[in-house]
Amino acid sequence: MVDARQGILPQTRRHSFLMSLIGMRHIVVAINKMDLVDYSKERFDEIVEEYRAFAKQLGLEEITFIPMSALKGDNVIEHGHHMPWYHGPTLMAYLETVEVDEERLQRQPFRMPVQWVNRPNLDFRGFTGMIASGSIKPGDAIRVQPSGQSSTIKQIYTFDGDLDEAIAGQSVTLLLEDEIDISRGDVISDVDQPAEIADQFETSLVWMHDEPLLPGRPYLMKLGTQTLSATVTDIKYQVNINTLEHTAAKQLDLNGIGVCTLSLSKPVAFDAYKENADTGGFILIDRMTNNTVGAGMLHFALRRSQNIHMQHVDIDKQARALSKAQQPAVLWFTGLSGAGKSTIANLVEKKLHAAGQHTYLLDGDNVRHGLNRDLGFTDADRVENIRRVGEVAKLMVDAGLIVLTAFISPFRSERQMARDLMEEGEFIEVFVDTPLDVAEDRDPKGLYKKARRGELKNFTGIDSAYEAPENPDLHIKTTEMSSEEAADAIVEMLRKRQLIS
Ligand code: ADX
Repeated sequence: MVDARQGILPQTRRHSFLMSLIGMRHIVVAINKMDLVDYSKERFDEIVEEYRAFAKQLGLEEITFIPMSALKGDNVIEHGHHMPWYHGPTLMAYLETVEVDEERLQRQPFRMPVQWVNRPNLDFRGFTGMIASGSIKPGDAIRVQPSGQSSTIKQIYTFDGDLDEAIAGQSVTLLLEDEIDISRGDVISDVDQPAEIADQFETSLVWMHDEPLLPGRPYLMKLGTQTLSATVTDIKYQVNINTLEHTAAKQLDLNGIGVCTLSLSKPVAFDAYKENADTGGFILIDRMTNNTVGAGMLHFALRRSQNIHMQHVDIDKQARALSKAQQPAVLWFTGLSGAGKSTIANLVEKKLHAAGQHTYLLDGDNVRHGLNRDLGFTDADRVENIRRVGEVAKLMVDAGLIVLTAFISPFRSERQMARDLMEEGEFIEVFVDTPLDVAEDRDPKGLYKKARRGELKNFTGIDSAYEAPENPDLHIKTTEMSSEEAADAIVEMLRKRQLIS
């Protein structure tokens, strides 16, 4: 809706950008209050020209311009007599005849994300969901994705009886001729025109939360009926939606819109959003708070996701661990700066080494001199710091080592990510709990004093958050035991868990 006196405003541009992003196909620009510009055809043409130029940059194509006076009723339902120069449809006539998405979706290839598997008894095994696109009949061949198995539709069951055909928008239960493995989140597709399968994408992302999007942090992604873990690996650029300029960004703040690469925990069946909003649109959820934090659209699969495969190696973790006579694991120390993580980890490593164990200690200050020397202390950099340390620790565990990591690792989300990288029982979180005032009193490197003087920004505990573990495997209160006692308690726990003998 454009005010004929004011023409194209920033708000018009913003709305148009969002419409282009979510793939609206038909745009009607209602140029209202024509009565206040003397029903001027010149003014109307001026606005049309300006908008067309902007819309072209966005790739909006089907645009209908209607000069209107809502006050006098011109071109709303009837044409009226003030603008004889206009020969197009009235607003109502246009809205009644425009093709809606539902019909377009019915012509697309068949897709049904499986909502649940229905098995009330041994004779009945149905797959329930809403048909996202296309249509289906008994006898049609289908493919189940991502597994790729195919079968034929035996029956289309609904509460109101069986159907001869079902179309996009309907909720149905499909029965197949063959016994194949299907679970919630799978997509049943047309056998000849299946969805694509990938685990890395280019996407558009709209951020909707006060806490910024941080690349490297895992979020829960809901795509169709499946929920999985997703990480933004790169923000290619952020879009200024007033000017359409692309700018570099390290994070996306509230209302930020960016083009990002997204990496998933496993391959999924999908369509590009512009083909199918149901199988190509997604939301992101914060894993700790369960808040919906972003919404996005899949553009296309990154080619690397199809061309990089896991290589099988014959000597595996078990073989390497066996030759070292130990169970590999990570002792993940977390706590404030100056809490005593490095001191205790160092003592533990000495004890393990003396007992003949094979270990390696990854220490924050040391790793930040090499692998992570490009990272500072913003939230985004700390996320990336821990992501890399998690990956390195995983490799070292795979090498059969008992790994000790001593990083503040202030965020629950990334400690959980590190835990998820390991196998069950391999990740042992040790909370080195030293109250802030005690750590500040010790101040072994003089950093707290610097931070208090304002010479060091984003210092943990001062002006950067520390999220204490809620359920650590071991809780060391350094005000109640010495470092030596703490180290003994940790070694003892490793014995109890039979990671060492
Ligand atoms: S983490 O937050 O990303 O896990 P990491 O453990 O690698 O931090 O590094 C913390 C060490 O860096 C501290 O022990 C301290 O010596 C030093 N450091 C320098 N600046 C900061 C800061 N702003 N906040 C915390 N530690 C800092």
